[in-house]
Amino acid sequence: MCGIVGYTGPREAGPILLDGLRRLEYRGYDSAGIALVTHAGELFVEKRAGKVAVLTDALGGEPPTAGVGLGHTRWATHGRVSDLNAHPHSDCTGRITVVHNGIVENFRALRDELAAGGHVLASETDTEVVAHLVEDAYKGDLADAVRSALHRLEGAYALVVMHQDEPDRLVGARLNVPLIVGVGEGESFFASDASALVAYTKKVIFLADGDVADIRPGTAVVTDIDGMRLERLVDTIPWSAEAAEKGGYEHFMLKEIHEQPTALRSAMAGRVRRGGVCLEEIDPIRDRLANVNRVELIACGTAYYASLVGAQLFQDWLGVPARANVASEFRYSPPPLDARTLVVAVTQSGETADTIAATRLARERGSIVIAVTNTVGSAITREAHAAVFLQAGPEVAVAATKTFVTQVLTLVMLAADIAQQLGRRTKAEEEELVVALKALPEQAERAIELAGATEEMASRYAEAAGFMYIGRAFGYPAALEGALKIKEISYLHAEGYAAGELKHGPISLLDADVPLVAVATRSAVYEKLISNLMEGKARDARVIAVATEGDKQIEQFATDVCWVPDTLEPLSTILAVIPLQLFAYYVAVARGRDVDQPRNLAKSVTVE
Ligand code: M6R
Repeated sequence: MCGIVGYTGPREAGPILLDGLRRLEYRGYDSAGIALVTHAGELFVEKRAGKVAVLTDALGGEPPTAGVGLGHTRWATHGRVSDLNAHPHSDCTGRITVVHNGIVENFRALRDELAAGGHVLASETDTEVVAHLVEDAYKGDLADAVRSALHRLEGAYALVVMHQDEPDRLVGARLNVPLIVGVGEGESFFASDASALVAYTKKVIFLADGDVADIRPGTAVVTDIDGMRLERLVDTIPWSAEAAEKGGYEHFMLKEIHEQPTALRSAMAGRVRRGGVCLEEIDPIRDRLANVNRVELIACGTAYYASLVGAQLFQDWLGVPARANVASEFRYSPPPLDARTLVVAVTQSGETADTIAATRLARERGSIVIAVTNTVGSAITREAHAAVFLQAGPEVAVAATKTFVTQVLTLVMLAADIAQQLGRRTKAEEEELVVALKALPEQAERAIELAGATEEMASRYAEAAGFMYIGRAFGYPAALEGALKIKEISYLHAEGYAAGELKHGPISLLDADVPLVAVATRSAVYEKLISNLMEGKARDARVIAVATEGDKQIEQFATDVCWVPDTLEPLSTILAVIPLQLFAYYVAVARGRDVDQPRNLAKSVTVE
């Protein structure tokens, strides 16, 4: 939820930290701060409520010269948004500074204990206790002091600590919240994710839970919390710094919508062959998959909507019960889970706390776990028996777009592959799917082209009082996702409903100010959707239909039509969502919203 960056090396730390914070800002953006130990050996701290730009202005564009420092961009959990509560936080001596992402659950008890021991805590945050615990434990070695302090913490954390008296050194630790180390030529970094440091180095260490990393220029030593030395692999980030730039688009979201054809191509690379689909990542667990008798998908938000498509396909193609579950609810009433249950955890970031906690429960109960994620080295990959990557490249906008379509695609491929392995689908069915998959990237390009009119359309709908999105079967997840996009970035209320449910209550919301958006692409449920469109029209609602190119009758029932190419029904969600993403984008722009960083949200939700 927050972004952390740290640097130690020969370059100017200040600009590197500010650049890293700008790149990490999508993780949380209610306040930002940096701390530096200057070349003169002084500690410098500047922190401000507001975005990174406010911090940069406060610094007058010129942070003091320093070779070591840490930075933080915040999404508030404990303590309101204020300059004081912004990170970094310091101890009583003002020599130790800490940045933290996560929640120290026992912070109240620790605060009381520290205050009773004479410490003065200045902020309302949980994080500040860490600085004071390190202060108490410090006997000349920062790593030892941090390890000692960590023993006192309950909860989740990624944190980085700096001491004024050890001016080339940073110590970081992670537990259930992401933190990586970047290893450069004579310089080292910490970051919440690779986007902050890929411009400087592509060599990274994905820290595991319980790791403590002690970095100095060009070196990184990883131990466990008791100081036992650990070997960690150095991975290479497969994408460039440019991939995480706007590339001429006004917003990351628009860029990422336009990247979808490429992302779909990349997600299929090496996986879709003439005879069928093959995901080699699941080869090591294929013998266990042979016995699967139930499939449970676990996810949040957009990933949950993608999972609805996956659930339909696992059920249809494998012939076993399959269900999509909201991860945050899963643990309250878990389904029967055993060694024959396949659990598919779907998460773009691979760090969503709810999804990880639910997955852990399934794993404890003996289920087979496959992670579907965009993030190599993320926490979910360690919870799973196998991980299948979206290969979509970095997604920066808070509103997910290209990772939704690649999640749907990857789940289609996963279900097809396992069904094929179990002999549950005919050769002809597989061949038909392969042909449709191969056509998909070009069809996505066409869908973007056809959606050219959404900008003008959005200007006519931007003042609507709210929206009702409906769909059936594979159109239903697209409707839910379309409604979520509108809500997230335009702050307009939007309901996503199974079209058949309209008459059971929500139809009363429809009138001239509440348009009906219907996913009415060619499908077995098309005629029923048309009836729902007519129900809306009869209530004076303006009707926007997403329809298949060549549909001759839809225009009679709709005020506006967004056309998409024809495809197999299981792939139709991918194409249908494209005009809905663009519509949401242009409505938000027309309403003057902060598209890439909508209020109250963060891209990576690492708290439960
Ligand atoms: O990283 P994850 O896929 O686990 O994230 C899950 C949700 O937080 C995420 O999809 C969220 O709903 C997006 N902001 C939607 O645009």
